[in-house]
Amino acid sequence: MASRPPLLTMNRITKSFPGVRALDGVDLEVHAGEVHCLLGQNGAGKSTLIKVLAGAHRPDDGEITWAGEPVSLSSPIAAMRLGIATIYQELDLVGGLSVAENVFLGNEPTSAGFVVRGGRARAAAGRLLERLGHPEIDPARLVGELSAAQQQIVSMARALSHEVRLIVMDEPSAALDPDEVDNLFRIVGELTADGVAVVYISHRLEEIRRIGDRVTVLKDGRSVAGGLPADTTPTRDIVSLMTGRTVEHVFPDRPPGAAAARDPVLRVEGLTRDGEFAPLDLELRLVETVGLAGLLGSGRSEILETVYGARRPDAGRVLVDGVPLRPGSVRAAVRAGIGLAPEERKAQALLMLESVGGNVSVSTLSRYSRAGWLDRRAERAAAHRAVRELSLRPDDPDAAIRTLSGGNQQKVVLARWLLRGCKLLLLDEPTRGVDIGARAELYAVIRRLADEGLAVLLVSSEVPEVLGLADRVLVLREGSVVHTAPARELDEHRVLDLVMEGNPTP
Ligand SMILES: Nc1ncnc2c1ncn2[C@@H]1O[C@H](COP(=O)(O)OP(=O)(O)OP(=O)(O)O)[C@@H](O)[C@H]1O
Ligand SMILES: [Mg+2]
Repeated sequence: MASRPPLLTMNRITKSFPGVRALDGVDLEVHAGEVHCLLGQNGAGKSTLIKVLAGAHRPDDGEITWAGEPVSLSSPIAAMRLGIATIYQELDLVGGLSVAENVFLGNEPTSAGFVVRGGRARAAAGRLLERLGHPEIDPARLVGELSAAQQQIVSMARALSHEVRLIVMDEPSAALDPDEVDNLFRIVGELTADGVAVVYISHRLEEIRRIGDRVTVLKDGRSVAGGLPADTTPTRDIVSLMTGRTVEHVFPDRPPGAAAARDPVLRVEGLTRDGEFAPLDLELRLVETVGLAGLLGSGRSEILETVYGARRPDAGRVLVDGVPLRPGSVRAAVRAGIGLAPEERKAQALLMLESVGGNVSVSTLSRYSRAGWLDRRAERAAAHRAVRELSLRPDDPDAAIRTLSGGNQQKVVLARWLLRGCKLLLLDEPTRGVDIGARAELYAVIRRLADEGLAVLLVSSEVPEVLGLADRVLVLREGSVVHTAPARELDEHRVLDLVMEGNPTP
């Protein structure tokens, strides 16, 4: 490795947006055949750096070399010609086009100089999807009809549709199940074995340990460490480089049995949706957090959405404080004090043209209007509190939401529900894309709200999160609860066993 020049070097890269210096002199060195991980808190500049690398942002200053030669990545086409492909954090697929059209968008396969269309493009896309371990994705289907995980595979197929030497993945695992993550890592292994370099961004340290060769840590737009060994650098070193402090306890302590004496707030009786989940009974008390563990497609999100009234049950009912809710009515659920922070934040939850403050207060408007007038002061105070408690960056309620980093957008959606003062909060993947330091803060906020008198029903693909936050865990497989136990009686291994096989290991 040492004798050949690095495939890529980025030196002293700077990039400012109005009011923010997103990159403030970043260095990055990537070798052919390695998995180079990029770590950093939300807003540290990771996505901005890789957009510079993809030719999507022009840097204000700095130098880039490719295989030892200075280059200018002045456009996405220039980057693509060098063999740089990017899978963005916000997938940039066109929902109204087919899989095959997306795969070859802007890069139609050519044969003797003629663009190959229709059947041949579909066949070529089909071969790529097969190589990626997903032959079941039909190239003729509309991308908008696919799941998030499938869309990501399409995005990967597009990256591989031309000659690549460096592939950048910005939080690719965020929407994936454990076995899909395995498939992703298999693909990464095949690419690096062929000498392709991979730049991998993730907030999950265990993934970095599994596939990473080296790590570069960004903090506040600067590289604070470059080329650390991915498998041997201690976690506390990485976390303190990222955050500038040590995070001792990620999960807040909780005395067992705190909820036992409280009143039940939610009762679910025989709730069913045919083909999604089997009759479910569940009781949740104030102060209590119940976690639903299971794979994508195990019915987790469907259960939350049905409790919330966004899906109409085929049987059963939902009671809040003993009063049955009108089935399939979100309005009734919200009136009764239920809040849902959904999984697909951008599509379902954010007003992308609004400010942070506007997004935080959107569902609280009625509380801030006096005699029909909006009480701007109260609204702003609430937004300020959210910004502070969730360490939002930038810490400005007037910032436009679309300019926030992925993890910070996420915090805004949560802030909205945390401030709303509901009785029952349904959280679907609350920390997807949120960095380690901010997670600890978010967990503390969730726990504090629960202690103040809130029930939480939590869905998460990250088993440690379910075990760390929940008092009680329901393990779901194919729509049925296969196991229920207090969180302290379970460990990660056991939950994964139950989730995957359902064979209880005694
Ligand atoms: N188009 C833009 N306009 C203004 N500010 C921006 C823009 N894009 C990014 N920023 C700001 O630049 C900084 C770095 O953002 P970036 O998206 O690179 O962070 P990140 O490290 O990818 O974070 P995350 O882990 O949350 O995805 C943030 O303060 C963000 O608000
Ligand atoms: Mg990002």
